[in-house]
Amino acid sequence: MAETILVTGGCGFIGTNFVRHMLERYDYTIVNLDKLTYAGNLENLEDVAGDGRYTFVRGDIASMADVEGVFERPIDIVVNFAAESHVDRSIMDPDAFIRTNINGTFNLLELARKKGVGRFVQVSTDEVYGSLGESGAFREDTPLSPNSPYSASKTAADILAMAYFKTYGMPVVITRCSNNYGPYQFPEKLIPLMITNALADKELPVYGDGLNVRDWIHVKDHCAAIDLVVHKGEEGNVYNIGASNERTNIDIVELVLDILGKPRSLIRYVTDRPGHDRRYAIDSGKITERLGYRPSVAFSEGMRGTVDWYVRNRGWWERIKTGAYLDYYEKMYGKR
Ligand code: NAD
Ligand code: DAU
Repeated sequence: MAETILVTGGCGFIGTNFVRHMLERYDYTIVNLDKLTYAGNLENLEDVAGDGRYTFVRGDIASMADVEGVFERPIDIVVNFAAESHVDRSIMDPDAFIRTNINGTFNLLELARKKGVGRFVQVSTDEVYGSLGESGAFREDTPLSPNSPYSASKTAADILAMAYFKTYGMPVVITRCSNNYGPYQFPEKLIPLMITNALADKELPVYGDGLNVRDWIHVKDHCAAIDLVVHKGEEGNVYNIGASNERTNIDIVELVLDILGKPRSLIRYVTDRPGHDRRYAIDSGKITERLGYRPSVAFSEGMRGTVDWYVRNRGWWERIKTGAYLDYYEKMYGKR
């Protein structure tokens, strides 16, 4: 019988792309456990909803009862994407980050341990390493030094997961990826926010001096790297994932405007994010050498494709940018 992968947070940006990636390539049974928070969207996986290998379960990883319910079926592999993922929201309201990112990961680890799951992939982030100066890159042995409630909660989850490997011998593997971009990203994050605002001729809010640096990777390459880790990652190991694409925020914003043929006058510098990490850069040497990882999407092509996706899928983001999203936007940017 085909093995079963429990994917949590499969209705979010990366989870959606990962579920599709796996169904296209393998014969696994996939169970997608998602709470459907503001960031989760069933529409993202409408096209695979009828696939007999795929099951959606609405549930909260921070509820032990919900996690126990999903583990009533045999689960062979867990890939934990479910998280509160937006740094700005973690600054405004950290509660849910502690609940989901820490308690939720704990519940999954506990059930996976009790049921003897064969592999537990904790999808983490480069933000656990904190901020870099002008040179250097994060390696797996860079000390953990998170600066936001979001990254602190992800760090706690990483440490807990590693403790389950060390104490119980659980087959845990951790991935730490840099900033993703691509289709289905919720339009609160830099790239889709700038694309969708520009398409609506709205101002593009750039924090601080716009010179903070992020290291961008197309979501397809992130999913391919997680696929490698699921199949070949060594237990008890951490793998950094990146694509060596460092860009300042202002470069990204100008690129979006140029691709869309919109004027630079839409840019508005706003008050900086508190505790704003200055620079991220990933050294992917370990996953490259040990697992044969190679990113395949060139940044310029990936950005054009992404902008094009938001142009073609206007209904998708227009449906999101209503109601609760507008309240959030006003709270975040209204008085900035
Ligand atoms: P996202 O916010 O787009 O999606 C998160 C998903 O998790 C949503 O579908 C949401 O409904 C679900 N979810 C939230 N709380 C839940 C709960 N309590 N129980 C069950 N489901 C819940 O996030 P994303 O950008 O796709 O990120 C996915 C994972 O990858 C996160 O763990 C994040 O930390 C990590 N990550 C993201 C990036 C990035 O650039 N986006 C980079 C590195 C790592
Ligand atoms: O590095 C991986 C992380 O990347 C993931 O773990 C997070 O889940 C993901 O949200 C992302 O975090 P960032 O804080 O780097 O991403 P965000 O898109 O929020 O911001 C990217 C940069 O752009 C950051 O320097 C802040 C800036 N920014 C962001 C927004 C939303 C702006 O200047 N203006 C904005 O309106």
